[in-house]
Amino acid sequence: MPKEQSFAAFTEELEIQQMHQLGDRLATKSLLYHLADGEQTLGNGFGNGEQKLLMGEDPRLPPMPEAPTLMDFFKQRFAPAQQHLLQSANLAQQNGLPDKIVIACLLHDIAVAGFIRSDHGYWGAQLIEPYVDEEISWAIRVHQALRFFPDESVGYAYPEAYVKMFGGDYELEPYIIAEYERAREHKWYMTSRMICVNDLYSFDPDVVIEIEQFEDVIGRNFKQPVEGLGNDNTPSSHMWRTLRRPANAL
Ligand SMILES: [Fe+2]
Ligand SMILES: [Fe+2]
Repeated sequence: MPKEQSFAAFTEELEIQQMHQLGDRLATKSLLYHLADGEQTLGNGFGNGEQKLLMGEDPRLPPMPEAPTLMDFFKQRFAPAQQHLLQSANLAQQNGLPDKIVIACLLHDIAVAGFIRSDHGYWGAQLIEPYVDEEISWAIRVHQALRFFPDESVGYAYPEAYVKMFGGDYELEPYIIAEYERAREHKWYMTSRMICVNDLYSFDPDVVIEIEQFEDVIGRNFKQPVEGLGNDNTPSSHMWRTLRRPANAL
């Protein structure tokens, strides 16, 4: 922003610039975005009587290919939060863990990196469920709960990062405790626990891992639909379409 330009003038200019990028269409936001700002409104969701609402591809976002793959979503939608996923999967690989743990680590916070944070384990599992082994999506679903519980048998302690993020006196919701208690008795418990062990919050900012490192692992463990994610007909296709076009009015 040039020094002499006021902030109001700058934002107005930015809005005009975005409007032109949108081809004079009006982009709307879902209720969820407003609720997250503590507001109960649909904003301009019913239009302003002048502009047409944005439907279809969003020219403000990186373009997606006709038949997008998981790697395309990593590149065009998940940046920059994807480094957490890539670093965790890289650690799992360095630790010599099998494919299923590496792919689980690569996708474990896919909801945080690219979709919805709240209840991220559940959203993330649902997003990938049609394309991976049940063990992988199960592990991703319950890692959200397991992260709060130590397991000395594998050297996993309550995360320091959680004390900083939520405070030392944070009390868990009953559904998280119930999920942990069910998971502890489950045959795939250790798969999910391994996500926690390789779940890195502090990593070397100088090391940048590229998604291409996991091309083979993805090829072996993620059933990429030929039509492209979102163009297929699975219980989560609509979620991929929403991620591709998040400002569609309907
Ligand atoms: Fe997580
Ligand atoms: Fe994580």
